[in-house]
Amino acid sequence: SVLIVDFGSQVTQLIARRVREAGVYCEIVPFQSAEEGFKRLQPRAVILSGSPASTVDEGSPRAPQIIFDSGLPVFGICYGQQTMCMQLGGKVESGHHREFGRAFLDVDKDCPLFEGLWSKGSRHQVWMSHGDRVTALPDGFEVVATSSNAPYAFIADEKRNYYGVQFHPEVVHTPDGAKLIGNFIHNIAGIKGDWSMSAYRQKAVEQIRQQVGDKRVICALSGGVDSSVAALLIHEAVGDQLTCILVDHGLMRKDEAASVVAMFREHYNLHLLHVDASDRFIGELEGVSDPETKRKIIGRLFIETFEEEAKKLGGADFLGQGTLYPDVIESVSFTGGPSVTIKSHHNVGGLPERMNMQLVEPLRELFKDEVRALGKELGLRDSFIGRHPFPGPGLAIRCPGGITREKLDILREADAIYLDEIHKAGLYDAIWQAFAVLLPVQTVGVMGDGRTYEFVCALRAVTSVDGMTADFYHYDMEFLGRAATRIINEVRGINRVVYDVTSKPPGTIEWE
Ligand code: XMP
Repeated sequence: SVLIVDFGSQVTQLIARRVREAGVYCEIVPFQSAEEGFKRLQPRAVILSGSPASTVDEGSPRAPQIIFDSGLPVFGICYGQQTMCMQLGGKVESGHHREFGRAFLDVDKDCPLFEGLWSKGSRHQVWMSHGDRVTALPDGFEVVATSSNAPYAFIADEKRNYYGVQFHPEVVHTPDGAKLIGNFIHNIAGIKGDWSMSAYRQKAVEQIRQQVGDKRVICALSGGVDSSVAALLIHEAVGDQLTCILVDHGLMRKDEAASVVAMFREHYNLHLLHVDASDRFIGELEGVSDPETKRKIIGRLFIETFEEEAKKLGGADFLGQGTLYPDVIESVSFTGGPSVTIKSHHNVGGLPERMNMQLVEPLRELFKDEVRALGKELGLRDSFIGRHPFPGPGLAIRCPGGITREKLDILREADAIYLDEIHKAGLYDAIWQAFAVLLPVQTVGVMGDGRTYEFVCALRAVTSVDGMTADFYHYDMEFLGRAATRIINEVRGINRVVYDVTSKPPGTIEWE
């Protein structure tokens, strides 16, 4: 495996992505606990990340000495290169030549990291983002490539297998970056690329069996990819010791709950309890308009309902969850202080303590696309694996203003037509998330010879990589016209349709 020491760069997770893509297992550890991480993981190579900090500042973070004492190959990226140089006897200066964005690298020497990739005299695009730079190399190092503003852009100590780069090989704007990282792992560190989803599946199944023994597990199944894959994996490991509970809050999409239930029961023969709690949820939500209040009510009712059902089943020792790696990585913070809550996401947090259960989280080591690959491996249908994300609070947060049953029904119909049109146009996979929103605004229209006074429906579609930032999707007008006409013709209660052209930031993806 590979240990990635995180000094707080925005893109540290991308380093892990590139290492995994090279078929090698890796973990990210914050620099503060890098020594423990190193001892625990016993890696065969180390990568040092970038950082918003400056190595010349007093008290700025360092890599633990154990890494350099171990004799293992080390690859330092940006700040990682600078701290490695300082720790090994070189010099770094705060830069007057700041470099941001695209730069070109001239290869001055052959280097084992360039094998099959770059040769002496060639020039390559890389992505720079740094203020400081190395100004004197430690003994044993030499420069193998330079850029106009970074004379030490790429340095190597071939004897000790130490490599350092000023640029960011982990980002896509460095087109050969993934291959450089692959060369470091395969050729320099000699690690085989045999981390695959089928190997992961076997290992995870073993681990779940060991952890659970002959005890019982319960899972909350929402029909989302993460909870579905986690449930299938646990089911494969312990079969009927697993019971899944689908808390149907009546805020799902049209036919959604029924299709999830059918698939898991029939196709996978999984113990699945479908709890129709829609009256309870909608009863409490009736008339509530404040977004955070809606979210809190839904979160609380979800936990209460789940807990009651679990008790009826006689309880369980374990709670299965589809927690992913990005939720597990401790983030390195230099700003201190808590960040502002934009929205309170709802999950089953707090339940394990309340019910005295231990967690089974078989996806803790995986990124989202790895979970999808694992789902494929477990036979989940493509239509399921490629599904757009759907928020826990469901349609309640797509119905701004006071909630009523009638409004939810109108929204559910409009949303189904919109998605149907997206599927028909073959656009579903090009869009990251699409949905309809029912506005609490009535406008005047004319249909046939009559006046109408009905609700406005807003359509939303975004492209995104991780939901953290997003762009609105650029439909052609024909498509929007078609979807709008159908919605107005087929859904009673809507007489006007608008399209949301807000990106994130400044908007969020959901309206509440
Ligand atoms: P926002 O609206 O914050 O949404 O830009 C980013 C992504 O998160 C989803 N989302 C949620 N998912 N529970 C969830 O499981 C929630 O409470 C929740 N709120 C938003 C949203 O659909 C989008 O994919």
